[in-house]
Amino acid sequence: MSRSRQLNRTDQMIEQVDILLRTLIPRAAQPYRPNPALQQEHTEMSDEEKRHAAGLMRINHTGEVCAQALYQGQALTAKLDEVRDQMTQAAQEEIDHLAWCDQRLQELDSRTSLLNPLFYGLSFGIGAAAGLAGDRYSLGFVAATEDQVCHHLEEHFESLPAQDQRSRAILQQMHEDEAHHADWALAAGGVRFPAPVKKVMTLMSKVMTKSVYRL
Ligand SMILES: [Fe+2]
Ligand SMILES: [Fe+2]
Repeated sequence: MSRSRQLNRTDQMIEQVDILLRTLIPRAAQPYRPNPALQQEHTEMSDEEKRHAAGLMRINHTGEVCAQALYQGQALTAKLDEVRDQMTQAAQEEIDHLAWCDQRLQELDSRTSLLNPLFYGLSFGIGAAAGLAGDRYSLGFVAATEDQVCHHLEEHFESLPAQDQRSRAILQQMHEDEAHHADWALAAGGVRFPAPVKKVMTLMSKVMTKSVYRL
C-alpha cells in the first residue's frame, strides 16, 4: 500500500472515531443551526409529562445516533461519488438533530439513552452492509429509514404534552429535514424497498423505541 493511501486510511479512521465520540458522548455534538426550541417559551409541565416528553426525545435522539452510524457505515463501503456532497449535507443536518434532542433532554432534566453504543454498532453494521450491496441500495435504505423516522415524528407530535412547544419545534424542523433526505435519496436513484423489508425495519425500530423510552 502506498504511503499516501495509508495516510488516507488513517485520516478516515481518525474522522470515524471523532464522529463516534461526538455522537456517543452526551453534549459533545455541536449544532450548525440554532435550536428551533429557542423560539418557544418554557412552559410548566408536571413530573409525569416531563418524563413522557423525555422518553420521546430520548427515542428521537437515539434515532439520530443510528443515523450517524448508518452514514458512517455507508461511507466506509459505498462509492456514492455522485451524491457525496448531498450525503455530507444530510449527515450535518443529522448532527443538528442529535444536538437539539440532547439539549432538550437536558432541559427536561433527563439524559440520552444508555443503549446508544449498542444501537450505534448495529446501525454501523447495517450501513456498511447496505454500502456493500451498492449505491442504489444504500440510497434506498436512506429513503426507507427516513420514511420511518417521519412516521415516528408524526406519532410524537400527537403524543407530546400539548404545552411542550419547545420539543415540538425541534421535531417539526426534523420532520422537514428528514422528508427532504428521503426525497433526494430516491431522486438520486435509491431503490424503493419492498413491503417485507420495511416490515423487518419496523420491527427493529419497535425494539429500539420500546427499550430506549425508559433506558
Ligand atoms: Fe435526523
Ligand atoms: Fe435524515
